[in-house]
Amino acid sequence: MTLAMTPVEESQLFDFLKECSEKVEDMLESLLPQPDDELEESRLFEAMRYSVFAGGKRLRPFLILSTNQLLGGEQTPAIEERAVRVAAAIEMLHTFSLIHDDLPCMDNDNLRRGKPTCHVQFDEFTAVLAGDALLSSCFEVLADFQTHPDASIRAELVRIAAASTGPLGMMGGQMIDMLAEQREEGERVVEQGELARLQRKKTGALFQACCECAALLNHADKMVQLHLQSYARNVGLAFQMIDDVLDVTGTKEQLGKTPGKDAIANKATFATLLGVDGARRQAEALCEQAQEQLAHFGPEAQPLRLLARYIVNRSY
Ligand code: IPE
Ligand code: IPE
Ligand code: MG
Ligand code: MG
Ligand code: MG
Repeated sequence: MTLAMTPVEESQLFDFLKECSEKVEDMLESLLPQPDDELEESRLFEAMRYSVFAGGKRLRPFLILSTNQLLGGEQTPAIEERAVRVAAAIEMLHTFSLIHDDLPCMDNDNLRRGKPTCHVQFDEFTAVLAGDALLSSCFEVLADFQTHPDASIRAELVRIAAASTGPLGMMGGQMIDMLAEQREEGERVVEQGELARLQRKKTGALFQACCECAALLNHADKMVQLHLQSYARNVGLAFQMIDDVLDVTGTKEQLGKTPGKDAIANKATFATLLGVDGARRQAEALCEQAQEQLAHFGPEAQPLRLLARYIVNRSY
């Protein structure tokens, strides 16, 4: 199985990504509060919009919409809109995680999505509140009647998003990540299993939640759920491994964020543990396994196959 992409496949993926971004950004535009000079809290709305619309690959929305299409086939615009609302909600949640990850008390970054980070552009308290507000807005959207008429499905969407972000998901992973950088030399996280556990939590859990939400919207059977879960689990870990690699090999212009920060902060990463080539090989093996999980789907799974390959080939 090859992971390299031909120029035709690459342009096919970029077309899919563009289509997805447009749908999700239109939805985000309608869901996020509009700044209003009359309102004192308008600065909060501006900060939320600043970070959400600063750019971003929109990979999590892509995962939701591609899985939704795979399971739901041709849908009416009204039914597809449910998945687009979920995708917009998850992108709000993801953007919250970036704003807080960049804060001085965490990774202390000043560049994100090619622009000054939220706390640099505004100030620290605005960035904290903008992150909080995006997280709350995610749940508000998921729990809204317009996202799904069935209350039990809405409750389950909220549960999936909360669990993936909560203490056993992203927050727990971020906690281990922060503690690891404070350890003394010699007592740092160096064991591969421990690092994989950290990364599955801090990044992988949200990838898994994307597939889970799309499976829920389409009443996928248990077998399909398991295949998708395994696909997302592998792709999610590979994604963070390549993020670690790009921190070493990428440029500021390519990444839209500051490279070399992990080494300076003494972070435990796959690039330091296995070396750049070793981490790439691991990520490739995971993406091959992810593709195998799609074996019993037909050509309709092409966007998910391309995504798995893009994740290891990407330069930003
Ligand atoms: C960056 O995620 C944060 C990680 C989990 C490594 P992305 O690389 O998907 O960031 P955007 O959304 O494209 O800016
Ligand atoms: C962050 O991981 C994961 C999140 C939950 C946001 P990183 O700290 O490596 O992400 P970047 O490199 O700043 O985007
Ligand atoms: Mg971080
Ligand atoms: Mg960071
Ligand atoms: Mg990183």
